[in-house]
Amino acid sequence: MSNVEQTLSIIKPDAVERNLIDEIKAIFTKNNLKIKQDKKIHLTKDEAAEFYKVHQSKPFYDDLCTYLSSGPIVAMILEGENAVLFNRELMGATDPKKAEDKTIRKLYGISIDKNSVHGSDSAENAIKEINFFFKN
Ligand code: CDP
Ligand code: MG
Repeated sequence: MSNVEQTLSIIKPDAVERNLIDEIKAIFTKNNLKIKQDKKIHLTKDEAAEFYKVHQSKPFYDDLCTYLSSGPIVAMILEGENAVLFNRELMGATDPKKAEDKTIRKLYGISIDKNSVHGSDSAENAIKEINFFFKN
């Protein structure tokens, strides 16, 4: 049975800074994930803290929010078959050193914090994260 869904993807500051936007978008589209909407924005630290609120108790939270707000990012709504899980597969493991070959984080990630992309981890969070960036 088909399960077309949407997920939120972010190209993080380290990848935007290295002009990897088109290359990363091409990975999604070549793999049949449609980019339904996209926007380049620069979050404030407070906005980054709101976005990553689920991680507020983690030791890396403050650095993570500083990092996500350190430069422009590209937020995208991706749509396709099993998009949430499939995007996570295309991204690879959080730590680029542990990511599988040909995944985005293996190809472009610099370190566990500068790992080039974000992707929603569940259908429920995808809806929340899409609304965070694209509520109209
Ligand atoms: O992004 P992903 O869902 O794979 O990982 P997460 O566990 O939800 O963590 C969110 C983000 O926090 C990661 O993508 C990393 O950028 C950062 N992080 C970190 O800086 N240090 C860690 N030990 C774990 C995560
Ligand atoms: Mg996560």
